[in-house]
Amino acid sequence: MEVLYLRILVTGSTGQLGSALLSQLKDCNYQVKITSRSKPEGIGDFKWVYSDLLSGEGLDEAVKDVDVIIYAATSPTKKSKTIEVTGFENFLSKVEHIQHFIYPSIVGIEEIPFKYYRLKCEAERLLKNSNIPYTIARATQFHSFVENLLLSKPFFNRYVIPGKINFQSVDVSEFAGYLIDLVNKGPQGKVEDFCGPEKLTLKEMAELKIKINNETNHVLSIPLAGKLYKSLIEGKNTNSMNKIGEITFEEYLRNKLV
Ligand SMILES: NC(=O)c1ccc[n+]([C@@H]2O[C@H](COP(=O)([O-])OP(=O)(O)OC[C@H]3O[C@@H](n4cnc5c(N)ncnc54)[C@H](OP(=O)(O)O)[C@@H]3O)[C@@H](O)[C@H]2O)c1
Repeated sequence: MEVLYLRILVTGSTGQLGSALLSQLKDCNYQVKITSRSKPEGIGDFKWVYSDLLSGEGLDEAVKDVDVIIYAATSPTKKSKTIEVTGFENFLSKVEHIQHFIYPSIVGIEEIPFKYYRLKCEAERLLKNSNIPYTIARATQFHSFVENLLLSKPFFNRYVIPGKINFQSVDVSEFAGYLIDLVNKGPQGKVEDFCGPEKLTLKEMAELKIKINNETNHVLSIPLAGKLYKSLIEGKNTNSMNKIGEITFEEYLRNKLV
């Protein structure tokens, strides 16, 4: 007898979240299609389709014959307005037939004055106002994102950083698992924030990295002016009521050494 599997499309399949989704979906009984502009490696039986949210090329092929979409495509810096809002709206217009649209978003976006976050709010609003059954799941920053963006390059043996800002970062693999669990639960509307197990200042995170990697670097904490900096010091990007993720930043760093 033929078994009919739920057909899932993952967009942004080469990204941090997309890659984590792919490795976990390999163990699931779903028929998985993935899309991005570049083709990820080691995709096994998954069908990859080229698509570009900017030009619209390949989108019809990508969304054809799918039941559930996990939308992990994003472009925070390049052509962000076109991709996060106009391109997203165009994408939504093509998927009114689907059963469930899962949209990962970010904790605190309406309270943090940052252009990309304003665009994420706009995208959430577009999805809520559509007729598409959806789940919006917001997470805090990924451990890897904080490390790569702010702690990747010491400058003359110093991490020069705005040390007072806070993160409650989360492991991307745990968030990916949470999104995959949502596939079975069906559309939930907006679900509770998915946040990491502890809140740390960026200075504390840098000190952990130095300790765990036995680095000779130091931390030079600098103050920054402005509303964005203030909102991150106040921890608007965190939610201490929702410590759902279990892997700490320290464990994430240690896991990278094994
Ligand atoms: N990073 C974080 O800390 C964090 C925290 C919470 C929530 N989120 C959310 O999680 C989602 C994924 O974030 P991420 O950090 O995994 O992003 P990412 O690593 O930057 O990956 C972005 C993905 O989007 C694809 N993409 C970029 N431009 C595209 C275009 N024009 N057309 C089609 N695909 C395009 C990229 O693939 P190609 O370049 O190959 O096309 C890539 O696969 C986003 O919604 C983000 O807001 C992120």
